[in-house]
Amino acid sequence: MGEPYGIEQLAQAVGEAVARYPDARERVEAIKPSLARWMERKEGLLPEHRLPCEVNRACGHLLHTAPDGSFFIISVVFPPGTSSGVHYHGAWGVIGVLEGGDEETKYARRDGPRDVDAGQQCELEKTGVYHFPPGSITHLLPPEEGFHRVRAASDVNGVSIHILGGTAETHPHFLCDNATRKLIDFPMHALLG
Ligand SMILES: [Fe+2]
Repeated sequence: MGEPYGIEQLAQAVGEAVARYPDARERVEAIKPSLARWMERKEGLLPEHRLPCEVNRACGHLLHTAPDGSFFIISVVFPPGTSSGVHYHGAWGVIGVLEGGDEETKYARRDGPRDVDAGQQCELEKTGVYHFPPGSITHLLPPEEGFHRVRAASDVNGVSIHILGGTAETHPHFLCDNATRKLIDFPMHALLG
């Protein structure tokens, strides 16, 4: 069995990485081994954390919020055939694929202000499509690596764990609106069940 390594232990390790590495790239790289360790047994991931909140709607379940508001941990469930839409994360993140298979399309905005905000044109260029089987770990590093779209690419629920900078209330998150091709506010807390 070994030592317990649940959400609490993972959060402890993430908190240490946050305190130790002010640089976001160093921080996400320091968090990855801790997430990989947690993913070996997924302690503390309850059956309800692996289910969508409503039939056929992607959503998240809050697992942890750091007392100082520096990061939070959620599980995200994509029922087969659902997609997140193209969106932007304005803070660092580390994502582990637990079940199903996520297809992630990454985008970059070469032109336009670096300070990404609601109301701006999306102006996005596709930079790659990645298939992540269970066990994969990826990251978000805005502004260059902040835009993406996630789609459930298999016929079972796609389940992933996301460790994100800020809280569900403060993590900057914008959706590229299909109709207007402009960024609109996409609050994380509204996606939680
Ligand atoms: Fe995302």
